[in-house]
Amino acid sequence: MPRLIHDFVDGGTGRERASKRNSEAWDRITLQPRILKNMAHINLQTRLLGRTYGLPVGFAPMGLCGLACANADRFMASVARDTDIPTCLSTAGSISLEDLAEQAQSQAWFQFYGTGDREFAEALLDRADRSGYTNLVITVDVPVLARRVRDLRNGLVFPFRLRPRHVLDLARHPGWLIPILLHGIPGPANYSGTTFVRDHNRSYVDWSFVAAIRQRWSGNVIVKGVMHAGDAERLVDMGMDAIWVSNHGGRQLDSVPATADVLPGIRERIGNKVPIIVDGGIQTGDDIVTALALGANFTMIGRAAFLALAAGRKQGLELFVQCLAAETRTVMAQLGARGIGEIGPRCIFSRGEHRSVPTIGGSSRITKQEHEK
Ligand SMILES: Cc1cc2nc3c(=O)[nH]c(=O)nc-3n(C[C@H](O)[C@H](O)[C@H](O)COP(=O)(O)O)c2cc1C
Repeated sequence: MPRLIHDFVDGGTGRERASKRNSEAWDRITLQPRILKNMAHINLQTRLLGRTYGLPVGFAPMGLCGLACANADRFMASVARDTDIPTCLSTAGSISLEDLAEQAQSQAWFQFYGTGDREFAEALLDRADRSGYTNLVITVDVPVLARRVRDLRNGLVFPFRLRPRHVLDLARHPGWLIPILLHGIPGPANYSGTTFVRDHNRSYVDWSFVAAIRQRWSGNVIVKGVMHAGDAERLVDMGMDAIWVSNHGGRQLDSVPATADVLPGIRERIGNKVPIIVDGGIQTGDDIVTALALGANFTMIGRAAFLALAAGRKQGLELFVQCLAAETRTVMAQLGARGIGEIGPRCIFSRGEHRSVPTIGGSSRITKQEHEK
């Protein structure tokens, strides 16, 4: 795909350390193999918010993800439906929410961005309700749109304005450009009656705004962009149905901690009151299992799904999900976890445990029962 588009997806804010930090954090954690358990049957199905999914992973909302390839949103919907995983449409998505609901059926979630325009917000929520969405995600980590340096450097603005320097970049990628032109240049498809402005002021989205949405929406409310245990606890007390631990893929704050680093503390604080969804740098089955072992109930993927689409269109995305399923299954087999519910803290490798393994004549801090778990 053109560099301009690649940079739009791949980029982060500032020096782009946060997106790197996200993926490095999963890499830092190693898992503890266990042996001699019959692993003939491994079940990847996961219960979340009253529904069973085929895998503990789904597609995170991405504004203008139609830029991955022509028909990208439809491909995401059909892969989600066929593989029984959720796909979350962004308010700034390039397919209408009615269309997505029809394509992805009950696999479709809707991510809602509040802007200052109350009428527009009301109309969006009504439309989502009428289209049969039950899971509403409120993204709260973009009070102000962060500087995305690569976009600034590339002169990428929305609505798109073609500049002389884009022409060569676009022309060099006919495989991307021609189908996009033939299908119509993707734009924000849910902004009827108002104009999409990328850096729209969302700073009025505060606690009372979220409380009002909670009152209004009869389905599940999931708050996305939570990075603090106290915030998570307050949201649970307010009656939210799930917490989505996310730092927007490192696109909002360059010095933000990795999601893997805040996840265990948030789980500890809220206990098992509501499910936790996590994203940020997740790309493999190992990452998925690590996230579940650290306390998440479900994982979501942004960039890697976009890039799979860009690389191989629908087949690319299908293959990516198949790889995730195969890897998750293999990792679970190595850890002796036959079902998603068997993945937990015991799956995380701990140096301390190994140092205290009983030696002949030595003493141990770990009891026999603990070892057998
Ligand atoms: C191109 C792009 C657009 C995004 N647009 C949105 C959006 O409209 N709403 C939202 O809540 N998050 C948005 N995100 C953040 C993702 O939902 C998700 O939190 C993040 O991509 C996860 O990190 P990962 O890309 O490392 O998997 C976007 C991310 C990307 C890469």
